Amino acid sequence: MSQFTDLYCVMGNPVAHSRSPAIHARFAELTGEHLVYERRLVPMDGFAQGVRDFAAMHGRGCNVTVPFKTEAPGLATECSARVQLAGAANTLTFRKDGSIYADNTDGLGLVADITRNAGVSLAGRDVLLIGAGGAAAGVLGPLLLAGARCITVANRTLSKAQALVHSHSALAALQKAELIAITPPAVAGHFDIIINATASSLAGAGVPVPATVLRPGSLAYDMMYGPAAQGFLDWARAHGATPRDGLGMLVEQAAEAFLLWRGVRPPSAQVLHEMQHAAA
Ligand code: ATR
Repeated sequence: MSQFTDLYCVMGNPVAHSRSPAIHARFAELTGEHLVYERRLVPMDGFAQGVRDFAAMHGRGCNVTVPFKTEAPGLATECSARVQLAGAANTLTFRKDGSIYADNTDGLGLVADITRNAGVSLAGRDVLLIGAGGAAAGVLGPLLLAGARCITVANRTLSKAQALVHSHSALAALQKAELIAITPPAVAGHFDIIINATASSLAGAGVPVPATVLRPGSLAYDMMYGPAAQGFLDWARAHGATPRDGLGMLVEQAAEAFLLWRGVRPPSAQVLHEMQHAAA
């Protein structure tokens, strides 16, 4: 690697499955930016050391994935408003003065994929967000800012849904949006957009909400992609909804990180199209 090539990485455990290196390499190719983006596997108790080591190598930026997103803000000098709201970061920027800036582009990626790539407006819509863990926390603020009318947070553990609703209540009031916390079996009525932010499919469990939440034309979105999303997508299709997996969110959150780091917006729709075709 030349001393003029900027170094980036995705840090996680596990990280071997991550498609971020391929996405950023393609962004760099299409925008003419010179950078290297690698995977860095760090021990479960070694995230802080991993970040220090990467900074010592003059790394410029780092994406953070499972299970370190909630640990990341604590290592930053400055956190964006999005990180403060979500309590989690997925993008660290290492500045020349040694400081670290933490941001969270997951929610921006989800909103961009729903509105731009899927062509579904969030403004004035009723949204069901299933789950209240780190993945849900990362997207609730941007969903509110995108103009949703009402967001129902349904989680197996009610107290976690209530905590998430509570921490976002000021933003919801500002946006004149309604926020509701509920347990999945108690969800009634149907929704315009249903977003699965749980790890239930990984646990081998079924979709935790009744199919009555769907109506023909609803967008049923799983934030996962590949085999992990399949059960939810099949369930949505079988009940007449429009299924969509999280591949577009992955590409769009990467595009937001690339923009933050390089000051250039990559052609994310083109890269998503290429990845969808490669997967087909
Ligand atoms: P992540 O960062 O991926 O969100 P997490 O913070 O561990 O991971 O959160 C996992 C989410 O999936 C939680 O909302 C969890 O529900 P609980 O808060 O009740 O634990 C949800 N989840 C995991 N397995 C589930 C299952 N089998 N059925 C329903 N929800 C499940």
